[in-house]
Amino acid sequence: MRKSIVIGNWKMNKTYDEAKRFASDLCDLELDKDIDKVICVPHIFALEIKSIVSNTDIMMGVQNMYFKDKGAFTGEISPSMIKSSQIPYVIIGHSERREIFKEDDTMINKKVISALEYDITPIVCCGETYEQRTIGKEKEVVCEQIKKALNNVSINDLEKIIIAYEPIWAIGTGLTASSDEAENMICFIRNVLSEIYGDSSDNVRIVYGGSVTAYNVKDIMYKENIDGVLVGGACLDLSSFSD
Ligand code: PGA
Repeated sequence: MRKSIVIGNWKMNKTYDEAKRFASDLCDLELDKDIDKVICVPHIFALEIKSIVSNTDIMMGVQNMYFKDKGAFTGEISPSMIKSSQIPYVIIGHSERREIFKEDDTMINKKVISALEYDITPIVCCGETYEQRTIGKEKEVVCEQIKKALNNVSINDLEKIIIAYEPIWAIGTGLTASSDEAENMICFIRNVLSEIYGDSSDNVRIVYGGSVTAYNVKDIMYKENIDGVLVGGACLDLSSFSD
């Protein structure tokens, strides 16, 4: 049985004071105990926010990491920094990293392998552009992204991964895939995993992201194969995130 998960991705938002206030207000809310909750915050706030939420079941994540353990990589953070800060989740291969910061599948694969080596759960993002969907290539694109991102990931490590299907045309646009479209792609992703890993693919959590709001989340989460959501814009506001 896969446990549902809601992941908030703050992206590059909030000042230090806003971040602290948000986190402490979040602690005061009564949230569903049966759903895992993760907030992926900017690196600079991670430890402070972690200590604010430490008495709750809210878990911490960051939004990116480099694959090397240490060294001359100005501006980057390493898996050992994340691990030693006891932060269990990291987003890898978000489309904004792919598009704006030119991360390719090889880089994403190195990061996935490295996160797993440090026992950090990678939330691995995939998703097609609007153009790719209009020419009917969405499955081909997503299949290739998944296979490349998971290259050399062992069957034992597979269950530690979370996959986020985030069609790029739906991110931050207010357009969202219908719950049927999301379910369809997520079933497809599970089939891709099952071709490689067999029945172990049943244990992998696959979530949907892209303009998820308090209004459409139920429809999405009620789908049999969708194990949760990755929320951007709507996680910045306390009441919409908690809803
Ligand atoms: P959005 O972002 O909810 O604002 O569309 C989702 C994401 O990029 O993870």
